[in-house]
Order: sequence, then C-alpha cells, then structure tokens
Amino acid sequence: MRPGPRAADVTSRCRLCGKQAAHYLNHAKMHLCENCFIKYYERKVYKSILKHNMLRGSRKVAVAFSGGKDSLALVKALHKILMEKFPEVELEVVHIDLGIPGYSEESRDLVEKICDNLNVKCHVYDLSAEKGYVIPDFQATPFRRRICGACGTIKRYLMNKIAYKIGADKLATGHNLDDVVEVLFELYLRGSVEEMVRIRPVSWSTHTKLVTKIKPLIELTEKENLYYVLSHKLPILSAKCPLSKNSRALKRKKLMNMIEAEIPGFKHTFYKSHLKRIMPHLRDSIREPTLIECKSCGMPSLSETCSYCKLISKLQKSQITHISNE
Ligand code: AMP
Ligand code: FES
Ligand code: ZN
Repeated sequence: MRPGPRAADVTSRCRLCGKQAAHYLNHAKMHLCENCFIKYYERKVYKSILKHNMLRGSRKVAVAFSGGKDSLALVKALHKILMEKFPEVELEVVHIDLGIPGYSEESRDLVEKICDNLNVKCHVYDLSAEKGYVIPDFQATPFRRRICGACGTIKRYLMNKIAYKIGADKLATGHNLDDVVEVLFELYLRGSVEEMVRIRPVSWSTHTKLVTKIKPLIELTEKENLYYVLSHKLPILSAKCPLSKNSRALKRKKLMNMIEAEIPGFKHTFYKSHLKRIMPHLRDSIREPTLIECKSCGMPSLSETCSYCKLISKLQKSQITHISNE
C-alpha cells in the first residue's frame, strides 16, 4: 500500500475551520483539513444524488467495486449517505475478478476486506471459475491492441447482469469527472453525438433486464477521491492493471490534467457546459435505441446478438485457431 500525495504544506490553514490543512483543491482554490474535506466530499456526493434524482424509487443499490480508489471512495461515501439519509435503501457490492495476474488478487482481497469492515454483502464474480476464460486470454487474439475495450464490454455486461440477478434497481459506478471529461474529449473530437448522449449522471433503464446506472461521483475528481480515501486512512491498491498501462484513455487523462494545470476549473467547465448547453439539444434530436433480447444469452441488446456474446464467440474462435495452429 503506498501513501498518496498531499498538496497542502504545514503552514496552510483550513478555509472552513482554521485548523492545519491537509488538502488543497486547485479548482476551488481552497485548503481544507481532513474533517472539513470529508464533510465537503460527502455533501457533494449527496447533492449530486439529489440533483439528478439518482435514488428515485430505490430499494437496493449495487455498487460496482473494482478495488481502485474511486470505487473505494464511492462505497465508503454511499454507505454512509444511505445509512444517514436513505435508511430504507440497501447497499450490496459487486466485484468481478478478471483473472489478471499481479492485479486481480490484490484488488479482490481489498474489496473483501472493506466489505467485511463495513458489514456489506459482497458478490464476487470469478471470471475464470464462472466462464472459463480470463482477460489476459485476449492477448493471444486480434483484440490484444484493444484489450481495455474488450475488458470494458465484459465488465459492463457482467455488472449489469449481476446487479439484475441480485435484484438491484440501481447500479452505481465510481466514474468521476476525470473519466467523463476524458471520454467527452474523445467523442467531441470524433463528433460521435450518439455516444455523447450516453455520458450522463443517470442512465435510466429502458429494458426490464437493464439496471439503471448512476454515477454519484460525476462531479468529483480522481484527486478528490484519493483525498477522501486517505482522509479515512483506507488502504490503497499498490498494483495497477498491467494491461492498461499505455492505454489511450490514460494518455488523454494526462492531457486533460495538463490543460487543467494551465486553466484551473477546465474539467468542471467542460462537463457542466456539456450537460447544460449541449445535452438538451442532443436529447431532442437523438432517440434512445430500442433494445431487444440477445438470441444467445437473453440479455438486452441493440442487435440479434449482444456485443458481449459476439466478443466471446470471437475469443473462442481465435482460441480454437490458436490451438489447431500449434
Ligand atoms: P474503469 O472502466 O476501470 O475506469 O472502471 C469504472 C468503474 O467501473 C469503477 O469505478 C467501478 O465502479 C467499476 N468497475 C471497474 N472494474 C470493476 C471490477 N473488476 N469489478 C467491479 N466493478 C468494476
Ligand atoms: Fe480491464 Fe485492465 S482492468 S484491461
Ligand atoms: Zn448475449
């Protein structure tokens, strides 16, 4: 477990209580001590939940917990907010063990430990045991250059399926401002308006087997999530996914951070103007696609066969070719 960066020095004082500051928030130009930071952070999550009606009609929220700092902050904050403000709503955790050596074991251990400490029910889905393949298997296929994309398709599919199976009406993910801005940047560059419309705080269900997705951390940065985890003295994963080291998404995040360093508040402005100024026009002009059931797995799909089943069938075919070529 490694300690994270602290941006405040010993002489800085908390803007709210005057005690010694622990964290500095660039975009808000504000120093805060650990206690005031925790309150600030939880208030922001709570406000996002209320503003976007994220828990409308909820009975059970499934939290997708990878073990990383973002979903760790989400589990911790949401657990507290539900207990205090929505005691009728249950929280359960979903974790997918992707079978990535040197990464998945540590992630899974951390998830189980945190759930144990919080006394939260934890559904661990072991890809290897359940499906007989693991993410590194894609390295021997034409998907090796787009392994993160393949992994994303698998995670999205399984997270929804597990949330649906455990009877959750909401699926919360740790997607944050950095994730959203990085994706929006790419979609603006490509002019992919159909995909842009899907980047939103809540994606309401349009099919009985599709669980509504919520992003309670959408207005918080990765740095704020890290500060929240550190303020609570929670453990931080030392392992990083070895397969996504040089991913394009990481490169774009670096670029967004360079812009933010020059123009503090850039990420917030980008996201907010997208949501307020662009989204209303997109919503009017782009229709929500109609979902049907995949003929092979029965889960919601845009076409006869869902993207998950298509991907797995390609993996199986390439494994057969691989074996028969040996
Ligand atoms: P990523 O796509 O890896 O940036 O992850 C985005 C979000 O998806 C995380 O904040 C988690 O909420 C969820 N997630 C990612 N990987 C897993 C996993 N292995 N198990 C459960 N949830 C995950
Ligand atoms: Fe999916 Fe790294 S977690 S490729
Ligand atoms: Zn399918």
